[in-house]
Amino acid sequence: MGIVELTDVKKTYLLGKVEVPAVKGVTFCIEKGDFISIAGPSGSGKTTILNMVGLVDQPSDGEVYIDGKPTSKLKDAELTRLRHETLGFIFQSFNLIPVLNVWENIEFPLLLGRTRVSKAEKDEWIDHLIEEVGLADWRKHKPNELSGGQRQRVAIARALATRPQIVLADEPTANLDSATGEQIIELMKRINRELQTTFIFSTHDAKIVDIADHIIRLKDGLITENLRRGENAEGSCSPAQGAAKPALATEA
Ligand SMILES: Nc1ncnc2c1ncn2[C@@H]1O[C@H](COP(=O)(O)OP(=O)(O)O)[C@@H](O)[C@H]1O
Ligand SMILES: [Mg+2]
Repeated sequence: MGIVELTDVKKTYLLGKVEVPAVKGVTFCIEKGDFISIAGPSGSGKTTILNMVGLVDQPSDGEVYIDGKPTSKLKDAELTRLRHETLGFIFQSFNLIPVLNVWENIEFPLLLGRTRVSKAEKDEWIDHLIEEVGLADWRKHKPNELSGGQRQRVAIARALATRPQIVLADEPTANLDSATGEQIIELMKRINRELQTTFIFSTHDAKIVDIADHIIRLKDGLITENLRRGENAEGSCSPAQGAAKPALATEA
C-alpha cells in the first residue's frame, strides 16, 4: 500500500439544489517519497482532491487511505492528529501570519500540537529549515518585507516544521512569476530528495508539471493520465494502482 491511496473517490458539492460533481471517481496510489504533480485546467478537481487528501474535506463516495489508514473510519480527534502529525500544507497565497517574523512563522505549527522535543532541539530544527530554504539573513523580517518567492520559501519551511511525511501544495507557484515558480519547485524537489518527504502539488503550468516524477492529469473530475517515472517508479503501490480491494486489505 502506498503512503496515499484513493479508491474510486467521488466528490459532489451541493449548490442550493444543484449537484456539482467535482470529482467523478478517481483511483490512484502515491509512493512514499514521490514528487507528484496533479495537473489539469482550472475546474478539473485539483483543489478538491488535495483537500480530501489533506483531510479538510470528505469524499461523497470511495475511500482515502493515508499511511494505510482508511480515513472515513477515523474519529475527528484521530483525523486532527493525523493531519497535524503526517501532513504539511503550502498554499497559493502563502498564508503567513503577518504579525510574526520569518522565524516565528516557521515555529508556529510546533506550538499547536503536542510537540515532544526540547526547546533547544526545536530551535535548532527551525534554524536548519531557515538555512535549507535560503533565508538565514531574513529570520527577523516580517512577511510584508519579503518578495513572493521568499514568502513561499517561508511557507515551505513552515510546512516542514512538524516533519510531516506528506506535504500538500495547492498551486504553490500560481502567484509567482515563472522563473521564481520554477525555483520554488526545484527547492521542493531538493527537500523531497534530502528528507524523503512526499510532495503532492497541483499546477496548471506545463513547465512545472515536467519536474515531477509522478504526474496525474485531470480533466472534468476524472484522471486522463497517471504516469510514474524515474527512480521512485517501483514501490509498494500495487500494479493495479490501488483498484478496489477488500476492506481488510489494509491490514496486510
Ligand atoms: N465548495 C464548492 N461548492 C460548489 N462547487 C465547488 C466547490 N468547490 C469546487 N467546486 C466545483 O468543483 C469543480 C472542481 O473545482 P476545483 O477542485 O476547485 O478545481 P481546480 O482546483 O482544478 O480548479 C469546479 O466545477 C468547481 O466549481
Ligand atoms: Mg484549485
